[in-house]
Amino acid sequence: MCGIIGYIGDKTASDILISGLSHLEYRGYDSSGVALMNNEEVNVFKASGKLINLIEILKTKQNICAKSKIGIGHIRWATHGLPTTQNAHPHTCNCKNLTLVHNGIIENYQELKKELEKQGAVFASQTDTEVAAHLIAYEYGKTKNLLNAMQNAAKKIKGAFAFCAIHKEEPDRIVVAKRNAPLIIGVGQGENFIASDIPAIIEYTKKAIYLSDYQIGVITKDSIEIYDEKNTLIPNKIEYLPFEAVAISKMGYKHFMLKEIHEQSDVVRNVLAGKLLSADKKVVLDEFKLTKKEIKNIKRIQIIACGTSYHAGLIGKYVLEKFAKIPVDVEASSEYIYRDTIADKNTLAIGISQSGETADTITAIKQIKQDNSHVVIITNRADSTMARLADSLLPVSAGIEVSVAATKSYMAQLISLYLLAIYLYEQKEVEQYKKEIATLKQELLELPSKIEAIVENTSNIQRIAKKYSSYKDFIFIARGINYPNALEGALKLKEISYINATGYSAGELKHGPIAMLDNNMPVLAILNTGSVYDKVLSNCEEAKARQAKLIGVTNYIEEKDASLFDDIITIPLGSETIGPAINIVVLQLLAYYIAEYLGKDVDQPRNLAKSVTVE
Ligand code: M6R
Repeated sequence: MCGIIGYIGDKTASDILISGLSHLEYRGYDSSGVALMNNEEVNVFKASGKLINLIEILKTKQNICAKSKIGIGHIRWATHGLPTTQNAHPHTCNCKNLTLVHNGIIENYQELKKELEKQGAVFASQTDTEVAAHLIAYEYGKTKNLLNAMQNAAKKIKGAFAFCAIHKEEPDRIVVAKRNAPLIIGVGQGENFIASDIPAIIEYTKKAIYLSDYQIGVITKDSIEIYDEKNTLIPNKIEYLPFEAVAISKMGYKHFMLKEIHEQSDVVRNVLAGKLLSADKKVVLDEFKLTKKEIKNIKRIQIIACGTSYHAGLIGKYVLEKFAKIPVDVEASSEYIYRDTIADKNTLAIGISQSGETADTITAIKQIKQDNSHVVIITNRADSTMARLADSLLPVSAGIEVSVAATKSYMAQLISLYLLAIYLYEQKEVEQYKKEIATLKQELLELPSKIEAIVENTSNIQRIAKKYSSYKDFIFIARGINYPNALEGALKLKEISYINATGYSAGELKHGPIAMLDNNMPVLAILNTGSVYDKVLSNCEEAKARQAKLIGVTNYIEEKDASLFDDIITIPLGSETIGPAINIVVLQLLAYYIAEYLGKDVDQPRNLAKSVTVE
């Protein structure tokens, strides 16, 4: 989604802006732009498409670049208006003195636009951001002060924004504002930075101030002033950024997605570290803040998440209900927020999010917090908005995930949910399943080596990927605890290869989807040993009887049944419960190799964004 970078100091601003934007590219975007300021002028350069188009333009403007030590930059993910150069940020006003980049959505932009048009504003784009630029410029006309102009404008704007503005009449400063969209100020020596996300500036500084909602900042090369909602200057709270620059490198892999799939064994080790020491020891989960008594009072669990994180939540339901013996509802955040929901202090709310910045999930969390439910956040970003809303924060620390397609963060979420289920089971002192819990713990400890066995031998997966890459449609089926992986496997395939893939619960096939089966429809079945093995096998027979091409992802198959399948991917043995954490690796690799074979932009698929910060 959109990304912001700003720089003020003694270095060539364009170099830092381009480097920062290149580290935000992973978020997904369709145009880019920068505004470069020196004592005499502000120059704006914009391009549609990839960042390289903007870089090519800047190569022809070396004089301007060399003398500009202040600048703001942006990558845009279109919301209002097509992804054209005209709609790309930065945006300016009639006199071109004020220049603005923006993340978020201005809800009352139509109303504001009408008012500004009456004052003579002429608009060059379809964006809501240009309206904000004109509004701040209009307020500047009254106040002759960029800080005051921003303060006045912010009060008139409804919606979400992270603003970063410069003005020709104040060539020593950048003014920023935030409401419901992330923004940080990177603290340097004789230079300062602004960014919507850490990767943009981590190369330059490890110190930052996280702006809170309704705050406005004035940044010069030697100072940072933060004002609260009442326009009072407040003390700066400097924090240390959690990432290393090296985490944002491909480390020799062709794509970040492949690197991140390979990292999953270490991710599992990291999530388990200090929490699960051995199969005969209790899970330690100090981050979970409810007492034993409060845990025993939990009547219901409500999981809220989107996309891949939602699929992790669906698997969480199986283990939490089974072991913790608490009913669990899982709902997509975008649905949760438009319902009259029921929750109370005996409801445990679990928000799951890789980025911790997904707008719908943040709104849902705020909604359930109002019902006095205890909120657990499972996230990969301990520095995120959601993390700050948590009553209990379970950071999964999978390391920064660059590829838009979530892989290692999904694995980390699954492991966290397994740990939480075991922890609740142990705190509630449930007696049933003692043996299964011990087995699950042992399997969690052994999981890294099973993942390694899969990623180190991908020749069969690559062969199958090539064989099926020309199909236009795909169906994924599974049952029980693996059903959510049918959804996740299909999501992975469609988002990076653009093949129309759908996941079904295998038992549902005959209630409609079976009508689509013929020899042009590959069906991938997850066939794990356990309670539904025979059922899934019968569903595969039904599919084969309609001449579907059948791919089995299985940890066990008898020779007599193997002939049913056109292709088989064998995975390491494991119990039914641990199954999803093993077979998902195959589904991720299959999607990856199909997309790679088709030559798709694996890490930055079209139309998608890494963190969806708008509703
Ligand atoms: O950051 P979140 O986990 O809250 O994001 C939710 C979804 O947007 C995300 O999981 C999305 O579905 C993934 N890109 C899929 O790979």
